[in-house]
Amino acid sequence: MAAPDGTDGNTSEDRQHHHKPKNKKKMNKATEEKEGSSNDQLVNGESEPSTSGIAKAGSIGVGTQVSPMPPEVERYMRKMQLQNQREFQFWNTQPVPKISEEIDANVNEAIEPPKPLSEIKQEPYNLPAGFKWDTLDLLNEEVLQNLYNLLNENYVEDDDNMFRFDYSREFLRWALMPPGWKPQWHVGVRIIKSNRLVGFISAVPARIRIYDHQQEMVEINFLCVHKKLRSKRLAPVLIKEITRRTHVTGIFQAVYTAGVLLPKPVASCRYWHRSLNPKKLIEVKFSHLGKNMTIQRTLKLYKLPTQTATTGFRRLKLDDVEQCHNLLAEYLQKFDLAPVFSKEEFVHWFLPQDKIIDSYVVENEGKISDFISYYTLPSTVMHHPTYKTLKAAYSFYNVSTNTPWKVLMKDALVTAKNSNFDVFNALDLMENSEFLEELKFGQGDGHLQYYLYNWRCAKMAPAKVGLVLQ
Ligand SMILES: CC(C)(COP(=O)(O)OP(=O)(O)OC[C@H]1O[C@@H](n2cnc3c(N)ncnc32)[C@H](O)[C@@H]1OP(=O)(O)O)[C@@H](O)C(=O)NCCC(=O)NCCS
Repeated sequence: MAAPDGTDGNTSEDRQHHHKPKNKKKMNKATEEKEGSSNDQLVNGESEPSTSGIAKAGSIGVGTQVSPMPPEVERYMRKMQLQNQREFQFWNTQPVPKISEEIDANVNEAIEPPKPLSEIKQEPYNLPAGFKWDTLDLLNEEVLQNLYNLLNENYVEDDDNMFRFDYSREFLRWALMPPGWKPQWHVGVRIIKSNRLVGFISAVPARIRIYDHQQEMVEINFLCVHKKLRSKRLAPVLIKEITRRTHVTGIFQAVYTAGVLLPKPVASCRYWHRSLNPKKLIEVKFSHLGKNMTIQRTLKLYKLPTQTATTGFRRLKLDDVEQCHNLLAEYLQKFDLAPVFSKEEFVHWFLPQDKIIDSYVVENEGKISDFISYYTLPSTVMHHPTYKTLKAAYSFYNVSTNTPWKVLMKDALVTAKNSNFDVFNALDLMENSEFLEELKFGQGDGHLQYYLYNWRCAKMAPAKVGLVLQ
């Protein structure tokens, strides 16, 4: 993610602690450059890739000039400038708006028209010698384990290489096999000799509304290249191949999120973090003690009741689907970028599943007025002697029509705390700003950029985004 390290410069009492970035989709440039030297060993099967020796990287050097700006701000500015000057050798060949392009509010259209099947390449793109495509059968336990291992060792890390996403096997099945999923959209790259999985990209179908236009598209996620094969232009091949595999099914648009700046974000959001287990978060350096704070005061600051406060607050069940699906659909009308869930999709995405997704409603006399949901995404703590994992809940879709936001989301925090989560994360999208500061969330230091492929429309504020990807 285009994220400065360190603090957000905020001094309010509630936010004196500063969280380390734990953002989705963040690339570490230093790691890339260091490790992107040779793939010979890996391809020839002479050595197994290892995750050891990942030095704590200083990200991008900022020079030694004395600057009036705090170093993290300077580093951020520098990084953004570098990114703005980049050539986007690959992305400039794709149907996406240029970084510098200003788009009028009345423009909302495909960049290029759908292609007839006869104009779509029928064979996969060529991979470098020694690699092969493999469509992953995620119903096969061994194959699922291969994907789990690839991501567990090589997927997104924070800027300081302290935490790495640890999507569970059951979560991957949930995220990659929603209604309408296609096996050919689970695209793996393996080393021919060893059969080792070293690359992945996925698509799942989704109906997305952009302003007043609904479009069938795919959500692209889990782009990953093994650490030892970075900076070799494998990612563009994966992206082109998943694009081809969606084109052959008659889909020509996609939505995706990333921490890095690419041409061209349709929205730019930020993560906020709410400590549930501050002692552990401080010990693993996810956050640190605020100025003038003691551990005792910090524990008190984040203490939550053991029981929820709202009358009628309970877990979502199958019987609620009809009502709750309508409630969410109605609510999502408020936003400029939002999914249009079928009832079947609603069941898939929201019915509680252990270690994957949890949802609650407020029901009184048979009427559901409010709804909250969050998904489970732990991160591996990379270099800690005792703590190996950080249990994080990620706010998914929430609706408040009767219970005030602050009360509703405090109940969400209580359930997450009772389920043993260490931290509750939320983006600043939809109406989340109504509760983030009041409920003692601290602003993270990365951005999550939202992108549309082959679509041109005006950029929107985070509060107009009504879409959350895993
Ligand atoms: C993201 C990742 C696959 C990129 O691979 P890489 O080896 O670093 O980069 P490559 O040399 O293969 O390709 C570079 C091109 O991919 C683009 N790219 C890098 N990250 C990207 C992303 N997250 N989404 C889309 N394009 C991306 C670069 O901008 C560059 O294109 P450009 O020349 O137009 O600027 C790899 O760094 C990785 O697995 N990182 C950890 C997981 C991760 O961050 N995944 C992305 C989640 S959004």
